[in-house]
Amino acid sequence: MKIMQKLSQAIKNRPIIGWSIFAVVMVAVFLLGLLAASITERRAEIATLYSNKKVEIKGINTHSEEWGINYPREYDTWKKTKEMDFQSKHLGNHKQDVLEARPEMVVLWAGYAFSKDYTAPRGHAYTIADVTETLRTGTPVNDSDGPQPATCWTCKGPDVPRMMNELGIDKFYKQQWGALGKEIVNPIGCADCHDPKTMALTITRPALIEAFARQGKDITQASPQEMRTLACAQCHVEYHFTKGENYLTFPWDGGMTVEAIEKYYDDANFTDWTHALSRAPMLKAQHPDYELFSVGPHAQRGLSCADCHMPYISEGGIKYSDHHVMSPLKNIESTCQTCHRDSEEKLKGYVYEYQDKALEIRDRLEKELAKSHIMAKTAWDKGATEKEMKGILKLLRQSQWRWDFVVASHGSTFHAPVESQRILAHGLDKAMQAQLELQKVLFNYGVKDVSMPDLSTKAKAQQYIGLDMAKLNKEKKEWLNTTVPKWLEQAKKDGKLTTKL
Ligand code: HEC
Ligand code: HEC
Ligand code: HEC
Ligand code: HEC
Repeated sequence: MKIMQKLSQAIKNRPIIGWSIFAVVMVAVFLLGLLAASITERRAEIATLYSNKKVEIKGINTHSEEWGINYPREYDTWKKTKEMDFQSKHLGNHKQDVLEARPEMVVLWAGYAFSKDYTAPRGHAYTIADVTETLRTGTPVNDSDGPQPATCWTCKGPDVPRMMNELGIDKFYKQQWGALGKEIVNPIGCADCHDPKTMALTITRPALIEAFARQGKDITQASPQEMRTLACAQCHVEYHFTKGENYLTFPWDGGMTVEAIEKYYDDANFTDWTHALSRAPMLKAQHPDYELFSVGPHAQRGLSCADCHMPYISEGGIKYSDHHVMSPLKNIESTCQTCHRDSEEKLKGYVYEYQDKALEIRDRLEKELAKSHIMAKTAWDKGATEKEMKGILKLLRQSQWRWDFVVASHGSTFHAPVESQRILAHGLDKAMQAQLELQKVLFNYGVKDVSMPDLSTKAKAQQYIGLDMAKLNKEKKEWLNTTVPKWLEQAKKDGKLTTKL
């Protein structure tokens, strides 16, 4: 109130102040009007787009090229997700062998399939090829062969909602991965994100709807801007498969922070695997892109994933969303520069600075954590007891969970730089605490120093943890040349495989 009194006094003394305030308010009203007009105009554009439909798309239509007849611009840009021509300082749209670049990661995942093979993500066009080609899915030749459940298909393409509809959700998850090889054949397409009648964004993956419901939220009430993020949060999230049922579940009941999710898993007594060297009960983080993005500066200002990864393009008076989902750094003009006036170099520089700072901690953590697992193995070898090791194993679980949470969310160090660095710092702290405890145990067994194996290449690290890579690679190659062509041939014959990229 004091301020208002002061203000009216000031205006009385100098009327120009009053007029200035009036002018500023008028300009603001005018700008808001422009914004409203541009939104209405865009709605009108989209309305004409829909009324110009050439073919009727019905049900869960997995044939993206049929949708493309109605929406050629979105279809043409969607097809570009097959391109592999971009590299930023740390990320790119091609297959990168991460284990080759960081052999310590082989040690971190000892006893788990990720130690065999792990490549950085590339475009949505490759979802089926990559899940099929990775050593992690093994070589199933009949419907009951493992090692992975059908749940692994869930984020790969529009055949998933089609099959869930056919089989029922429970039954879908209960199959083996190989059992659906002839069915899930088209990579991420229009039916993964859109309702065919209205073209509105829609959630096709039950796990997201269920996670919202358990928190008392109804996802159908999400705003259009929220949907531009939630469409991605169907897949770009942390998840686990429940033991026994392999039911895909998002662990958000107590919150979405790294600590809240850890507590969820601890309370459920959940472990993904037992570490082959340290015997720690481990968690594997998936890709908590949505969780970390949500606490970052852009989410806090109301931005959605699509604002940077699917920006609007104007072409001959028509505005549409670029469906070439990839690094926003390839096209800074239509991404960052729609809001920021900084130069391209400067904007790239911001991203690289965040990434580099986080990588400084990650590099340290990766090395110290690998060393901790190896020290723990030495302690077991010397006769350490469960009681001596219990607290240490918990620290190793906690440290690696933090490391993985940030690393597996590939954009996190830009999406949420402060949170990512906080998590990595705690990860490093836990790894060093584990080492301090380990040194005490080792001392009791007369060990002064643990000699580290040669981890300078992926091959050496894999040999150290006892993997027979020649055999695994040979078996996979044979399987890719025999079983997979049969799957694809059958799918083509049944008219199910139509995506041509
Ligand atoms: C149906 C699941 C699914 C949905 C929905 C989905 N993604 Fe993806 N996304 C994936 C998978 C799987 C990959 C990895 C593909 C590979 O490497 O074979 C991926 C890869 C990516 C990449 C890496 C591309 C590159 O060139 O390196 C980006 C970026 C990305 N997605 C962003 C998004 C955004 C933004 C959305 C929402 C508009 C979204 N995704 C929706 C599953 C999904
Ligand atoms: C990964 C999710 C995803 C996939 C796959 C996808 N879209 Fe979209 N689509 C979006 C998002 C996000 C928008 C922006 C919606 C908004 O702004 O409300 C959008 C918008 C659209 C629009 C509205 C006009 C526009 O361009 O903004 C059309 C039409 C469209 N998509 C067609 C398609 C077609 C055709 C395909 C398949 C070739 C497809 N989409 C695949 C997420 C997706
Ligand atoms: C403010 C812009 C912005 C928003 C909003 C945004 N991202 Fe990103 N994203 C980036 C940048 C920048 C990178 C790093 C790209 C690089 O280094 O080449 C990135 C990287 C990624 C990557 C890794 C790509 C790769 O090649 O490995 C994925 C996946 C991703 N983002 C998904 C998402 C998802 C999902 C959302 C929403 C929950 C989202 N992003 C929101 C800017 C954004
Ligand atoms: C739709 C608008 C929009 C887009 C697109 C966008 N930003 Fe931003 N960005 C913002 C807003 C709003 C803020 C907060 C500004 C403030 O508080 O001064 C912000 C803040 C930032 C910050 C400061 C973050 C902090 O810690 O507070 C950086 C760095 C940044 N953006 C870089 C980028 C880059 C790089 C891209 C492209 C990959 C991008 N932005 C895309 C709107 C956008």
